[in-house]
This record gives sequence, structure tokens and C-alpha cells, in this order.
Amino acid sequence: MTSYSAVETQWALTALANEDFSQIHTLCDVGGGHGHLACGLLNAYPHLQATVLDLPGVVGETDQLWAPKLGLSDRCRYLGGDMFHEVPPADAYVLKSVLHDWSDDECMRILANLRRAVVGAGRVFAADFVVPGPEEPHFSKLFDIHMMLVGTGRERTAAEFAELMGAAGWRYACGTGYRTLSTVSSPRLPPLVLRFGSAWSIGSVVCTRYRKGLWRR
Ligand SMILES: C[S@@+](CC[C@H](N)C(=O)[O-])C[C@H]1O[C@@H](n2cnc3c(N)ncnc32)[C@H](O)[C@@H]1O
Repeated sequence: MTSYSAVETQWALTALANEDFSQIHTLCDVGGGHGHLACGLLNAYPHLQATVLDLPGVVGETDQLWAPKLGLSDRCRYLGGDMFHEVPPADAYVLKSVLHDWSDDECMRILANLRRAVVGAGRVFAADFVVPGPEEPHFSKLFDIHMMLVGTGRERTAAEFAELMGAAGWRYACGTGYRTLSTVSSPRLPPLVLRFGSAWSIGSVVCTRYRKGLWRR
């Protein structure tokens, strides 16, 4: 996972380049693996503190964790836990290649935990494929079959993401669809570009603000 994550980190950072992180001080990468993306964000935004939440067995693989290797341990905490049970408080959350692992009901449980724990006007940055319309060939459709075979997950269209996020109490702002990335020779396209909440342009993410059951911008 780590080697592939390294490629995807650059896609995600590019996608997030126009995002305003000035009001985000704490970020939690939920299901964040060994923390490659979290470290990329820490490098890009020096005021940021990150928590990488993953299963205890994953964050216990101390020789594979990126923060100590990159000298970022003072700003990056690894937390062994279960996102279905609880996530730590943060100004913003990242879910990269996580939602597609799970059914709608399971995603709802994860997203509800984020909503419960988020600090202030929170955001969720979600990165996954966005499945295009039925007439369009797309790698995500092959991956959808793969996800069906290996577990409860699935790939989703922009409308399905919007509905899922909305049902979990997160406000959908816009979806900018998917894109190809010619500079990376991978059969897999970069993460999805969905936007929930406030501004950003191209990317792999979801921004949302939620407070006490009321939508806020
Ligand atoms: C497909 S990987 C994505 C990893 C990383 N976000 C990335 O993009 O490279 C899904 C991650 O979710 C983690 N995970 C699975 N179940 C989890 C749970 N209940 N709580 C926290 N993390 C979990 C896995 O260990 C794995 O690291």
C-alpha cells in the first residue's frame, strides 16, 4: 500500500494546492496507513499538526511509518484505533481510498463519527474514484467489480457520493468529476475530485462544514 500511496500523495497535494489551510490547524488522516499523505500535508503546511488513525497493527509497523523517517514526528501522531468506533477531534479529516472499501451503511458510520468529533466548522477531504456515466469506459468500473469481490465496498458516482455525504450530515458543495493524469504512468486514474462545503478547485477531496445539525458555509 505504501508505495502506491506515495504516488497518490502527489496527486492529492496537487488537488489540494488551492485549498485554504490557514484555518485548519489539526488534521486527521482516517485510515491513513503509514502516513505518507499526512506527511506530505505537513510538509506543505508548516503550521499543521496531524494524526494518522489506522488499525493498531498498521500503526504498530514502526519501521514503515513515514513521520520518523521524514523528521516529522513532532507534528505527526500515530493513533491505533477503529474508525467505526471513534475518531479523534480535528479541524479537518482526510479519507483517501477509504470510502470505496465500504458499503453505504458502513461509510455512514465512519462519516457520522467524523461529524461527531469534528472541531468547529469542519471539513472532510475525501479521495476516491468518481465513476462516470454508463456509456463511458473508465477504469473505476473495473475497480468497482474488484471491490465487490473482495469485500463490501464499491466505487461511486458523484451523485452517489453526494447522497451518501448528505445522508451522513455533510454538505455537498460540488463535484468536479474525475481527470486523467498524463504525468503518471499508472492504469489507475488519480483520486476523485469532489467538493463538499467551501472552496477548492481540482482535487481529490470533499470539504464540508457542519455544526450542531445545521448546514453552515
Ligand atoms: C485502502 S487503504 C488506504 C490507506 C491510505 N488512506 C492511502 O490512501 O494510502 C485503507 C486503510 O484503512 C485502514 N482501516 C481499515 N479498517 C479500519 C478501521 N476500522 N479503522 C481505522 N482504519 C482502518 C486499513 O488498515 C488501510 O490502511
